This record gives sequence, structure tokens and C-alpha cells, in this order.
Amino acid sequence: MPDLDTHSYDVLVIGAGGSGLRAAIAAHDAGARTAVICKSLLGKAHTVMAEGGVAAAMGNVWKEDNWQVHFRDTMRGGKLLNHYRMAELHAKEAPDRVWELEQWGALFDRTPDGLISQRDFGGHRYARLAHVGDRTGLEIIRTLQQRLVQLGIDVFMEHTVTTLLKDGDRIAGAFGYDRELGRFVVFEAPSVVLATGGIGKSWKVTSNSWEYTGDGHALALRSGATLVNMEFVQFHPTGMVWPPSVRGILVTEGVRGDGGVLRNSEGRRFMFDYIPEFFKAETADTEEEADRWYDDKRNNRRPPELLPRDEVARAINNEIKEGRGSPHGGVYLDIATRRSAEYIQRRLPSMYHQFMELAEVDITKEAMEIGPTCHYVMGGVEVDPDTEESIVSGLFAAGEVAGGMHGANRLGGNSLSDLLVFGKRAGDHAAAHAQNLGDNRPKIHEEDVQAAETGALAPFSVEGGENPYTIQHELQDVMQDLVGIIRVEAEIKEAMEKLASLKERMAHMSIDGHRQYNPAWHLSIDLRNMLLVSEAVAQAALLRKESRGGHTRGDYPMTDYDYWGKRNLIVSYDGDAVAVKEQPLPVPPPELAALLEEEH
Ligand code: FUM
Repeated sequence: MPDLDTHSYDVLVIGAGGSGLRAAIAAHDAGARTAVICKSLLGKAHTVMAEGGVAAAMGNVWKEDNWQVHFRDTMRGGKLLNHYRMAELHAKEAPDRVWELEQWGALFDRTPDGLISQRDFGGHRYARLAHVGDRTGLEIIRTLQQRLVQLGIDVFMEHTVTTLLKDGDRIAGAFGYDRELGRFVVFEAPSVVLATGGIGKSWKVTSNSWEYTGDGHALALRSGATLVNMEFVQFHPTGMVWPPSVRGILVTEGVRGDGGVLRNSEGRRFMFDYIPEFFKAETADTEEEADRWYDDKRNNRRPPELLPRDEVARAINNEIKEGRGSPHGGVYLDIATRRSAEYIQRRLPSMYHQFMELAEVDITKEAMEIGPTCHYVMGGVEVDPDTEESIVSGLFAAGEVAGGMHGANRLGGNSLSDLLVFGKRAGDHAAAHAQNLGDNRPKIHEEDVQAAETGALAPFSVEGGENPYTIQHELQDVMQDLVGIIRVEAEIKEAMEKLASLKERMAHMSIDGHRQYNPAWHLSIDLRNMLLVSEAVAQAALLRKESRGGHTRGDYPMTDYDYWGKRNLIVSYDGDAVAVKEQPLPVPPPELAALLEEEH
């Protein structure tokens, strides 16, 4: 293959966010020749959007906290659709992964007695999020990146993988291109770890940046792996809504964790109206009384703004729909009247600067205008909970691209712990997989490389075809308007028809110019992934006829415990169409099931 750059490794990690970096470190430490490849720059990852903290039951603030409570919170937050074994491993191993980061140089905020400080977040029984102000994800990336560089692990930045290569049923490597030079590149590797993050760029209002086009999800599907829980998409309750250029940018849940409250255009703290019946205060005649009653951790109560994200996002959506929204189509998030300016600037420095610089709002004096923003996908590659291997031999997945851990809804802070716990596990097992093969490594076939090259170049040979940017905008509108926070059958079907027509049009996209640094060409490749993953979300959303977590059906508003509470939806792809089938939910062993029964 003379006109290609070729490399050979034991483990190839695709993606350089937290899960990819942690996987690469683990694989390297296990003795595997390891490389990381990322489509953007090292360190530019959605991990930094987990601002408020990393959830781990370290018991620093509340001695009562332990893995069992974290397990229960995670399962309840996920509306019991999580893979119990992933939730168990995650709760047990998260504290070690955080302490390890500290040994590697992460500078967490401290409690008065010098322990790692932990803050409140929605759905967590105890204050459990270890944090670095409101820049926790950034500090985690910085720490992992520094370690990666120290260990001398190879990194290929601005490289985009377009195809996974197989030898029969086994992964043999990956084909992609170097964006700067436009040259094709082949990586021979018997273990590939997908760590590509999420799919949020398929929605118009999103906290995700341009990289999050569902690449890993799509690569997995095309190579014969399956996806689980794809109907569950998380809309974070608080994204910026104004000015338009910054719409969707995240406003950390840490604002609410540190005392911020939500108000509508009438000034009412409307979340009191959305508290589930079983949790309502018996006597609270005024807002002040209710405030005091709910803000009482000792008795397992918490402010209604700290209900799980899906519940808060739906409440905000409803306030806006019923005409009690703010001038720019959001509601108000107010910490200014609740905490001192010094406290706000110390605990939430990024939020202070973000609003000052982007919206000219001083959050120590005024309320923020916020609204839901597409933030995270619970669905992802179906993996073995212990090894993170998919059903395709040699293909692993960790972090947001993997499914199962969060069920129908993820608790804030659980993404950072997820990517550390399962990043390490994926790296360990990917290394072992490669090492166990000995000389029996899968081979790369030249005809597959040629087909990948032809596929990647296809848009250059269409004359006068459509512009990929037009198609991208239309796809984002379809998903935002028809497969958003509230879904109904007629709209999902309309979305599916529109996606089918976009698929036709995509076959006739054309690209001008050459291969070096050509963003339109890059987008044309991303769009294939965005479309495939959007089809998966829409089909799964159509099939699940109930409301649960990040999937709300306006036409099926109830949660169906007897039927849908016992089933996952599994997505596969035959090269032409996406198929979705029901699969029984794994049943936890009695000792874990008993934890879920306990009242507190
Ligand atoms: O609100 C936040 O800081 C986001 C955290 C997360 O998604 O885990």
C-alpha cells in the first residue's frame, strides 16, 4: 500500500477525551503498544463540559456515603434500565479512580479539614461530586493528558477514522485520514477502543461541539456491533439561551448544586410545582417554608431544582410552553439572591466569566436566562460490563459511546466517573486481548482499504451536487423539532421520512477543492455518521411506547413498569437499514436487588 501511511499497534484508541486517555494509559501500563487518534486536538473533548464534578462515594463530606448508596442512586436515576453490573462496578471503583488522579497531579478543591471537597448534584443522596471549582472536566483532561505525554504514548491529532477494518469476524485495525495533509492512513491493531463520545451535534441546541457526530456509534454499527438504549438522549436543563451565537452552551448543574434556583417570568420558583407526589412536603404554605423543608439532607430531602435532569428539563420545557418563559425562550436561574458574590466567584468562576464575557450578565447580581440543551446520549455500544468488549471480537468501547451504564437517564457527575472506571477497564482488556493473540493477529485486506478510500473520496466525484452544510442544518432541525424532549408518534414518523430523504440527498453531495484541510469534505464524512445514528434514535424512540428518563412520549406519558421496564432496545445495521429489537433487561442478583428496595 505505497501511497498510504501505515502504522502498527496492539491497541488503537479512537478519541482523546477522558475515556480514551484513561484507556490508553491502562493499555500502555499493561505493556501494549498503544496509540491514540483523535479528530480534533488533544485535550479538546466534551469531557470538559462535565464542569461541576466527578461522582464518587468517598464519604468526605457525608461519612454515611458508600458504593451501595451510589449504586442505588445511579440505578434509580437511570429509571432502573441501567445494566446493574456496570452500575455496580462504577460505584465500587470510582473512588479509586479519583484518588489515582490526585496522585497524578489533579488539584481538587478541599474541605476545611483538607479532604477532597464534594458538592451536591441532582439525584445523588449525598454531596458526592469531587470538583475543581466548575472546571472539573478540564482538570481531569489536563491530568490525563500530562500523564499520557509523560508515558510517551503516540498521539495522532486531527486524524479522522472513516472505517473499521476487519479480518472475518475480528477487528484488524482502522482506516482514516490526516486532515491537515489529506493523506489516508491505515492502523493495523487487533484491539480498537472506541472512545469517541456522543452524538449531540445532530440537534440544533446542544452543548456538544463540532466533533460529536456519533462517529464511534456509527463505526460500531457498520462493523457489526450493536447499540443499546439509543432512544434515551439527555437534555441538560441549563444551557445558555442568549445571545443566539452561544445558545446551548452549558451552564453547570453546580449552580443549582450550590444553591441556585429556577424561576419563571412571574418570579415563581416553579420547581415546587413539579415535585413527585410521594416526595411532597406535607405542610409548607409559603415558598420560604417549602425551601426550608426541602433543603434538608439529613432527612433525605433536597431542593426541587436537584431532581434528576430529565425531570427538571421537562418542567422548564413546560413553563416555556405555557407562556411563563423569559424573553429569549428560557427561564431564569438565580444564584445572585441566594449566595454572596464572593461565594459565587469562588465556587463558580467559569460561569461568572462565561456570562460576563458572552452575555454581559453579572451572575452575582442578576439571574441567568437558561433552557434545556442536548448534552449526552445514554445509548451506545452494547458491551460486556466487565471487559467493555462489544459483540465484535477486538472492538471495545468506553465513556459516552458505550451504552448500558446510565439506563434511561444519567445523573450529573456520573459521566466523569464512568469514563475513568470504564476507560481503565477497556484499556486493560484491550491490551490483554491483543497480547493473548500471539502470532494469530488478524490481517488487513487490501480490497477493504481500497473500498474505504473510494467511499471517502466519493463526494469529490459528484458535480453540482448539494452542499453538506445545507444537509447538516436540515438534519439538526429534524432532530430538534421532531425527536427532541417530547416525542409523539406522528412526529417521529415524519422525522424518519425526512431522514430517508436526507439519505437520498446525501448520496449526491458534492465537495469542491482538494483534500488538505477541507472542512466540507470532513463534514460530508461526519454526516454519514450523524444520519445513521439519528435513524437509530428515531426508530428506537418510535418503538418504546412509554415515557422514562430521557425519552418522553407525549402520546404515552406514563412509565410502563410491567412491559417496557423489563426491556432494552437493541439497534443493529445490515449495511442498508437500521433494525431495532427488544431484549430482556439483565436481572440483578438478590443482594443488589435488595439495595434497590431500601427506602433511603
Ligand atoms: O452540569 C455539569 O456540570 C455537567 C456535568 C455532567 O454532565 O456530568
